[in-house]
Amino acid sequence: MKTSNNTILITGGTSGIGLAFAEEFLKLGNKVIICGRRQERLNVLKIKHPDLITINCDIADTKQREELCSIVLNDYPDTNILMNNAGIQLAVDLTQPSNLEKIREEIEINLIAPIHLVSLFARHLAGKTDSALINISSGLAFAPISFMPVYCATKAAIHSLTMSLRHQLKNTSVKVFEIIPPSTDTELGHQRRADKTQSHGGIPLQEFLTDAMKAINDDVLEAPIGQSIGLRAKREELFHIMNP
Ligand SMILES: NC(=O)c1ccc[n+]([C@@H]2O[C@H](COP(=O)([O-])OP(=O)(O)OC[C@H]3O[C@@H](n4cnc5c(N)ncnc54)[C@H](OP(=O)(O)O)[C@@H]3O)[C@@H](O)[C@H]2O)c1
Repeated sequence: MKTSNNTILITGGTSGIGLAFAEEFLKLGNKVIICGRRQERLNVLKIKHPDLITINCDIADTKQREELCSIVLNDYPDTNILMNNAGIQLAVDLTQPSNLEKIREEIEINLIAPIHLVSLFARHLAGKTDSALINISSGLAFAPISFMPVYCATKAAIHSLTMSLRHQLKNTSVKVFEIIPPSTDTELGHQRRADKTQSHGGIPLQEFLTDAMKAINDDVLEAPIGQSIGLRAKREELFHIMNP
């Protein structure tokens, strides 16, 4: 896939992986649209990158997803790449009665929103000569960590969904990518940490970004990055090591 002269919508561009992709794609001469809920972050990013297009949108909300789609398709009809990146990660002990509202929200953001956005954008993308859908899953799609069972299940579902979409879109111009990050140093899961500024660890964002951009550039449609290569290849063996 060409990595310049695109118009790209990235969900969840206010931090972490989405922001890293947004800044890289801007540098490479693309028009980049990001969305997120934290308006103050969007404001700061707009000042830092005046060409960046920022839209406040909570993708957990059906109506806001529809509004996002109509703003993007009306105002930026050149949009030829949708990157489903926004995600949250919760620790859930399913041996206890659980907070179903939080669980529903996690599934809505990580799974329903990408499904809905794909269905809203697919026809538009298929009308372009060069287009792509890029879903961000996780190495945990292949070998889950049991203390965040719902998160891992949503990522396994994104993997499955991406395979089906690749097949459904096979006779169109849309290249369907799955980028499979390993643990990467971002804010992910900060909701469950007492100190919200603490990272959960993982490889540096730049290391992830270099490999992910190479995969996109080289048309590696299913692209495990770093430790995700092992998680995808040896899921059973690694599951037992990760969940002693
Ligand atoms: N970091 C890792 O170790 C890792 C590993 C594998 C996969 N991933 C995946 O990579 C993706 C990005 O995560 P990250 O690590 O970059 O985490 P992050 O730093 O926490 O970024 C998450 C992004 O998603 C946005 N977001 C969350 N809920 C949203 C909502 N309801 N509506 C709109 N935007 C929302 C956040 O924006 P606002 O808070 O401003 O809304 C933020 O921009 C996720 O899908 C994650 O599952 C990450």
